[in-house]
Amino acid sequence: MAKVLSGAGLRGQVAGKTALSSVGQSGSGLTYRGYDVKDLADKCQFEEVAYLILKGHLPTQAELTSYKTILKGMRGLPTALKEVLERIPADAHPMDVLRTGCSMLGNLEMEADFTQQDHASDRMLACFPSIICYWYRFSHDGVRVDVETDDDSIGAHFLHMLHGQKPSELHEQVMHVSLILYAEHEFNASTFTARVCASTLSDMHSCITGAIGSLRGPLHGGANEAAMEMIQGFTSADHAEQEMLGKLERKEKIMGFGHAIYSESDPRNEIIKTWSEKLSNEIGDTVLYPVSVRCEEVMKREKGLFCNADFFHASAYNFMKIPTKLFTPIFVMSRLTGWAAHVMEQRADNRIIRPSADYTGEELRSVVPIEKR
Ligand code: COA
Repeated sequence: MAKVLSGAGLRGQVAGKTALSSVGQSGSGLTYRGYDVKDLADKCQFEEVAYLILKGHLPTQAELTSYKTILKGMRGLPTALKEVLERIPADAHPMDVLRTGCSMLGNLEMEADFTQQDHASDRMLACFPSIICYWYRFSHDGVRVDVETDDDSIGAHFLHMLHGQKPSELHEQVMHVSLILYAEHEFNASTFTARVCASTLSDMHSCITGAIGSLRGPLHGGANEAAMEMIQGFTSADHAEQEMLGKLERKEKIMGFGHAIYSESDPRNEIIKTWSEKLSNEIGDTVLYPVSVRCEEVMKREKGLFCNADFFHASAYNFMKIPTKLFTPIFVMSRLTGWAAHVMEQRADNRIIRPSADYTGEELRSVVPIEKR
């Protein structure tokens, strides 16, 4: 008989194997293919890390240059996809836009067999920023933005399309760091969604579309948007403290805090916090960063809870004038690498994922004919 799980949410259960990342085990607590995420964020560009995750090793300079050239050449969007994006209203959620965009891409450029998996994932990595910005600029500004920029990096490409001008070096650097921090995280909900879908031998676009749906929820990727909505309502650090205490007293869940696996800290927080502070200094902010720091202090003191990767991402993105509703789509632009690599890993050693359930329903009974019910 199958073992009945004691904890809800499959917490603590090993659900498979991966060589892609380890969470809460060595180094600062998060490694991608054996490299500490802090080391990667200090020394690499996002494209190097995407290459590491998708292809298995850190690229040489020649490999990186060639990879970036390939990705740059894949930024364009098919006309039929642009037409679909133009029909999606401005008040749609950008995660729904991305979900539709990914699915439509799968119709237009189907992954016919698994030999195309590298191409399919590189293509998505290159064109997801284009999908987000094409829809956003068209629906909000009435502009058909040029999605084939010559920017050197995915982060710069995104900011360029969004703001209509090339980003500063600092902003491009923050995008590298942010995309590195979000790239991969073991068997989280969206990755597990992708793997379950992959285990049926489905196509790459279906796996990624499903994962986008899982990431959308506020308990997962949507937390950075929810954190932003909260902190922008606080006018000072003291105001933040007072409001946070009220929320805790009312037992409200505070987005951007806590983690299902980490128990003492999230290694990604310290890194993005540093960059958020740099951005705050750059623009002379005197509210959002101090408010965020005070929220962190109050949560630690009152509940022993720490910021996860999402909390200081909120202020960092806001300082770069990124609209709040695009926060989670940026997460997708990055985590796509982890999802795709997990799909490939699942395919390489597959058995359909089909757990059992502990039945809690009625005992066996007979159907009473409808006229006698
Ligand atoms: N705000 C307030 N209380 C929180 C909290 C938060 N963000 N996160 C956890 N807690 C509390 C829980 O209410 C619970 O208290 P209780 O034992 O009195 O009921 C306790 O801490 C344990 O948390 P739990 O919800 O069991 O942890 P989990 O492993 O099931 O969930 C998260 C982990 C991430 C889903 C959860 O911390 C959360 O919802 N955080 C906010 C959403 C978020 O930031 N998500 C992004 C994750 S990277």
